[in-house]
Amino acid sequence: MKGILLAGGKSSRLYPITTAFSKQLLPVYDKPMIYYPLSVLMLAGITEILIIATPADLPLFEKLLGNGERLGISIKYTAQTAPRGIAEAFIIGEDFIGSDSVCLVLGDNLFWGQGFSTVLKKIAKINNGAAVFAYPVNNPNKFGVIELDENSNAVSIEEKPQVPKSKYAVPGLYVYDNSVVEIAKNLVPSGRNELEITDVNKEYLKRGLLKVFKLGRGMAWLDSGTPLGLLQASNFVETIQSRQGLYVACLEEIAWRNGFISDEQLRATSVEINNSDYSDYIKSLLD
Ligand code: G1P
Repeated sequence: MKGILLAGGKSSRLYPITTAFSKQLLPVYDKPMIYYPLSVLMLAGITEILIIATPADLPLFEKLLGNGERLGISIKYTAQTAPRGIAEAFIIGEDFIGSDSVCLVLGDNLFWGQGFSTVLKKIAKINNGAAVFAYPVNNPNKFGVIELDENSNAVSIEEKPQVPKSKYAVPGLYVYDNSVVEIAKNLVPSGRNELEITDVNKEYLKRGLLKVFKLGRGMAWLDSGTPLGLLQASNFVETIQSRQGLYVACLEEIAWRNGFISDEQLRATSVEINNSDYSDYIKSLLD
């Protein structure tokens, strides 16, 4: 399975913070925001990743993450020249996807919870149909909203409905088989002139191929795309890390625990980025 991380968009909800550069480079406590969704792909065991961002931001992401070698993965980069919607990622990424299935994660989504890695490893095996998550929120009208029957099967899915049919938002983490490329190419732009990811999910639902994984109260799904969301996400990460002494989304740790890099490579990284709490944490893993 290939992984696509979409870090494009105008981020207008975060103006003026995002006037000069992308929100996905902003700190969520002690790491750039993009570390969190990237950690999700890595926890799923995905090692071939495409980052899609605006032409202006792309060099900054490349500077941050390089070709992925340091993390034992491969990272490629492609531009989205205008904010034409999330589903355009599959058109832009067609060659990268090839004949594989694909997991898409949005660059401002943060997931945390016990057992989530196990769920991720499970969804990474899907090669027929699509999988989305359902997470209860206070303000479903701000998201894609999924209506479920008593067996947690999808009944309907709508993008930011004024009157939501359920409290279940669809987080920005999706798995699709290879037909997603053709589905994306046949989409009609929405009223806001974007190719909507919700329309992709609707097509899978119509075909009877949309699986839903419900995330319960033991999971945190945070969207850091607003000033309040950004602060709450930072506070959340700080609270967990200070309490447990275990980092959220330490990419080098995940790479090492997954066997993508060796002890020696991890040690070399900790020396290279010496003199921060982050590097001290990496060193402590080897002790
Ligand atoms: C997008 C999707 C929406 C989804 C959300 C998750 O919304 O369109 O369906 O629930 O991401 O973060 P946007 O962030 O573009 O408003």
